[in-house]
Amino acid sequence: MKKQVKTAAVLFLLACVSMTSCDTSKKENNNNMIEKVSFGKLPDGQETELYTLKNAAGMEVKISNFGGTVVSWTAPNKKGEFEDVILGCDSVAGYVKGVPYFGALIGRYGNRIANGKFTLEGKAYSLAQNNGVNALHGGLKGFDKVLWTATPIEGEEPSLKLTYTAKDGEEGYPGNLSVEVVYTLQKDNSLKIDYKATTDKTTVINLTNHTYFNLNGNLDSDILSHEVTLNADKFLPVDKTLIPTGELKPVAGNVFDFLKSKKISAGINDTTDTQIKFGGGYDHCWVLTDSTKTLKSAATVYEPTSGRVLEVLTTEPAIQFYTGNFLDGTIKGKNGIIYKHRSGLCLETQHYPDSPNQAAFPSTVLKPNETYQTTTVYKFSVK
Ligand code: GLA
Repeated sequence: MKKQVKTAAVLFLLACVSMTSCDTSKKENNNNMIEKVSFGKLPDGQETELYTLKNAAGMEVKISNFGGTVVSWTAPNKKGEFEDVILGCDSVAGYVKGVPYFGALIGRYGNRIANGKFTLEGKAYSLAQNNGVNALHGGLKGFDKVLWTATPIEGEEPSLKLTYTAKDGEEGYPGNLSVEVVYTLQKDNSLKIDYKATTDKTTVINLTNHTYFNLNGNLDSDILSHEVTLNADKFLPVDKTLIPTGELKPVAGNVFDFLKSKKISAGINDTTDTQIKFGGGYDHCWVLTDSTKTLKSAATVYEPTSGRVLEVLTTEPAIQFYTGNFLDGTIKGKNGIIYKHRSGLCLETQHYPDSPNQAAFPSTVLKPNETYQTTTVYKFSVK
C-alpha cells in the first residue's frame, strides 16, 4: 500500500515537472501565444478586442471580435520582408464610423437580394433595402457590425474561434441562427476560415469574408497591376443594380476571362462592355468550373513588384471578385493612409447572389437539423 502511494507521488511529481517544462517552452516560443489587446470601446461602452495570431514563419494576422474583422495581415515579399497587405482601420472607431466591410465577416446573407424580398416555404420576408432597392451583406447591422464571442486556441497553428447567435427575425431573416467561424493561421502562411451554422427554422445563409487585399504592401497604391487568375469558365451578368439576370455566361472572348493570368488593368476600364459599366469595374460573381464541394483552387493573384502570390481555395461554388470601385479617397485607414479608388481587391467566396429568388441557382436554404459548413483558405507565397 505504502509502495503504491510512493509510486503515485513520484508519478505526480514527474507529471508536474513535465507540465512546467511544457509551460516554459510555450512562454519562450512566442509564436504559440495569442496576444489580446483592447481595440477600443463601442458607442454603447462595450469593450472590443484585437487578437494576434502568429506562425513560426513570421506571419501575423490581427483579428477583432467586432465583426470578426481581419484588421491587419503581414506577408513576406520576395526579399523576405513582411508588410501589411490588407486595408483596415487603427481602432474599432473607424469601423463604427463606417467602412465598406473592410476585413469583416459577412452574413447572414453575403451579397445582394433583389428588392430586399424573398419567399421561403410560402412565407414572404422583407429585409432592409440598404443598397439602392436591394439588400446587401446581411442588412443594416449585419455580422460585420456585431460583437462576436472570441475563444483563442493556442498552438503551432493558432486559431480564433468566433461565435454569434442571430435572433429569429434579426435583420428580417427567419430562425435563430448559431454561427461559428474559426480562423486558423497555418504553418504554410495560409489563413483557413471554417464557417459553420445551424438554425431552428428554415432560413437562407451565405457567409463570406470581405478582406481587401493589396499585395504590393504599399497600401497607398492601386491594385491595377495585380495579375489575376480565376478558375471559372462562367460568370453571372447583372442588371444595373448588380442583381444577376439569371444567365450563366461563358467568360470566353470577353473581359471576364481570367482563366489565364491577366493584369486587372487590361479590361477594367472597357466601358464598351455593359457589365463593366454596371459594376464600375469588376464587381461580379464568377462560377467556378469545378462545382464540387471539395476544397479547390478558385483564384490566384500575383503582384510583380513584391513577388507576392495569393491563392484562394474554397469549398464554395462561386467567388465575387470586386476591385474596390467604390473606394473614392474619403476613407483614412491604418497609419493615416488614404484609401484611393481601387486600392484593394476582394475575393469573396460564396454562393450566387440573389439565390433566394432564383430557383435555378444552387440552394442557399438551411433547414433545422442541417449543418451549414464551408471552408476557404487564403494562402500566401512568393514567385
Ligand atoms: C461587395 C459588393 C460591392 C460593394 C462592396 C462594398 O463586394 O459586391 O458592390 O458593395 O461589397 O463596398
